[in-house]
Amino acid sequence: MPFGWPTILRRVEFAPLSRSISAIGFGCASLGSRVDGKRGTIALARAYDAGVTWFDVAPSYGDGHAEVLLGKFLAGKRSQVAVCTKVGIVPGRVSLAMRIAKPVVRWAIILRPELRNPVTSFRPPAERVELTGPLIESSIVESLRRLQTDHVDVLALHEANLDDVQRDDVLRALDNVISKGYARAISLAGDLVVALAAVALSERFRIIQFANNLFAPNVALANQQLPPGRSVAFVTHSVYGHGGLLNALTAIIAKQADKRALMGSMGYRDAPRKAAAAFLLDFALASNPKGVVLLSMYEPRHFSFNLSRLTTSPQAKVVLDLASRLVSLQPCIEPRKQKV
Ligand SMILES: NC(=O)c1ccc[n+]([C@@H]2O[C@H](COP(=O)([O-])OP(=O)(O)OC[C@H]3O[C@@H](n4cnc5c(N)ncnc54)[C@H](OP(=O)(O)O)[C@@H]3O)[C@@H](O)[C@H]2O)c1
Repeated sequence: MPFGWPTILRRVEFAPLSRSISAIGFGCASLGSRVDGKRGTIALARAYDAGVTWFDVAPSYGDGHAEVLLGKFLAGKRSQVAVCTKVGIVPGRVSLAMRIAKPVVRWAIILRPELRNPVTSFRPPAERVELTGPLIESSIVESLRRLQTDHVDVLALHEANLDDVQRDDVLRALDNVISKGYARAISLAGDLVVALAAVALSERFRIIQFANNLFAPNVALANQQLPPGRSVAFVTHSVYGHGGLLNALTAIIAKQADKRALMGSMGYRDAPRKAAAAFLLDFALASNPKGVVLLSMYEPRHFSFNLSRLTTSPQAKVVLDLASRLVSLQPCIEPRKQKV
């Protein structure tokens, strides 16, 4: 136990993979881009040693470096964890000047986190590519090579659209991915409306990945709209939303005395920002009790805080009741742009 974390992390029985998985997953979107390989690998080790057994990656993550870094880290540990990778988005082209500037920019963001959004707006965006049968099959083969493994647990269509999930070539390619043993299960990661349509159209989609947080409580919507009798697992993200949601809830707690008192009466008595962070994560966990909540947590203090919520958060019912009294819980089904 090199990092001294508790060995038993909260786990869920994850039916599509017939195995138990940690209730939180490690998000690799910034692995190799905002976070360099060395710092990123230390963060992966910290999570693995604490019992995190779900790692979420994609060919586009980390400016195209995340799968390679994760694959290197998982050498010799692969069977202990579940890996989800994706298909459909490729990394943006990073110019030579940007590559040279990267180490300086990374340090600038560590020292002044408020620079992150302006810097991100200069980065070439990852590009959506047309999903076709041949693309799916070549993309997963390339992902497996970079990840140094013969299979991933989950392959997700990344930000697919409604047309993609109905096309025969796409569906046939997904069947081939399963029959060749490249992936154990198929998922759709992105817009919840498309994910729900995919589930309704085909039993192939047994896992869906989407944003779920206090300000976009989409699990409730997903549960309402699943076809009757279908069991689909949820992998959710956007708990903190790169500061935006954390700032929004912090402001509510700081400025509205009645809400601050309400939170205090339920045990959230820390300073507004810390109470807000605790509640955002508690809400994500309480609203997705049978699935996996993805988190970006490269900063050791973020990691230890997030881990601590797994053992200290109040009961789910208390959290969900409090949420409905804090904000008006409206699902958000707008398509999002992803910042990695
Ligand atoms: N499928 C999709 O379309 C999609 C979209 C978005 C995300 N994802 C997946 O979900 C993963 C997580 O991404 P996300 O957007 O949901 O990020 P997130 O977990 O909401 O984290 C956003 C930011 O909050 C910080 N943070 C983490 N814990 C914190 C805490 N306790 N207090 C304050 N700040 C904290 C993180 O910092 P540090 O990382 O520096 O510690 C990060 O900068 C991604 O890596 C990716 O795997 C998938």
